[in-house]
Amino acid sequence: MKKTILTGLRPTGNLHLGHLFGAGKNYLAMQEDYEFFLEIADVQALTDNFHHPEKVRKNVLEITMDLLAIGLDPKKVHFFIQSRIPEIAELTVFYSNLVTVARLQRNPTVKTEILQKSELFGNHGESITYGFLGYPVSQAADITIFDGELVPVGDDQLPLLEQCREIVRKFNSIYGDILKEPEQVLSNTTRVKGLDGNEKMGKSLGNAIFLVDSEDVVKEKIMNAVTDPNKIRKDDPANPDICMVYYYHNLVNKGNIDTVCKECRNGTRGCVSCKKELIHAMNEFLKPIQERRKYYEENSSLVKQILEDGSLVAKKRAEVQMKRIKQAMQIDYDEK
Ligand code: TRP
Repeated sequence: MKKTILTGLRPTGNLHLGHLFGAGKNYLAMQEDYEFFLEIADVQALTDNFHHPEKVRKNVLEITMDLLAIGLDPKKVHFFIQSRIPEIAELTVFYSNLVTVARLQRNPTVKTEILQKSELFGNHGESITYGFLGYPVSQAADITIFDGELVPVGDDQLPLLEQCREIVRKFNSIYGDILKEPEQVLSNTTRVKGLDGNEKMGKSLGNAIFLVDSEDVVKEKIMNAVTDPNKIRKDDPANPDICMVYYYHNLVNKGNIDTVCKECRNGTRGCVSCKKELIHAMNEFLKPIQERRKYYEENSSLVKQILEDGSLVAKKRAEVQMKRIKQAMQIDYDEK
């Protein structure tokens, strides 16, 4: 029996290099050996974006195409839409008795997000909804409705997994040994830095190269990337360790990295030609991804079918688990 892995992504925008190197590479490796459920978490995306349903709707297809474009194989991965599995919502309600409001407020991920929101809106978290505060509970339902054993995530998600394990332990202690405690699988690549030198490439930080970026967009972004500020003239020696152009060479132009580094340090490489070389390498790197994506864009009914098929498999599996859970909770009226 293959182990089950489950992970989710919020459909709120396209994937960028940070997603690819941080998560995507990990998914690609894992799709070979596991029963892989990949959730497009539309309900979770709505906790933040309930007033922009059109944005979430549009991005369900966008993000699925991005994931297919990086090479995930729909024959190996069950792509499914969270809202297609009502058992997740049902289980979220059952779990909501097993977690205190205080515990949710102390969850470091939630805490950071509340802080970010109150900085944005200046209202000290008063506009935080019940749904938003409770999204870790819903995420615990996402994982456990499939008996997810392994969960590939970034380190920002660790408090959510810890919360999930707590819910599982509480559930099992009351209703019997029904649920498995999931384990995280951290990706071995650390975060990808942003074009501006920020430690994190982020959609909302405006410092990302997206997998769908055209050649011209890539060119413009790289031309404006942060380099060593002490290098003024073309033949000044510079420090590649503080240069984002060098940093991306190291991601997509590894074969030439020693030359890039040496020439940068000894001042025989001007920034403009160094950037041009990176633009070329980046576009070459993105090309096969974009070609695959184009195929899915032109065959969007195929993408919808992939989501439909995956959701069907996920639904069947969730129904089985829900039956066990309802029996344990003594709310299995249809059985008697
Ligand atoms: N919270 C995750 C994120 O923002 C997305 C997510 C939803 C998820 N459901 C999940 C991750 C289940 C792991 C497991 O990235």
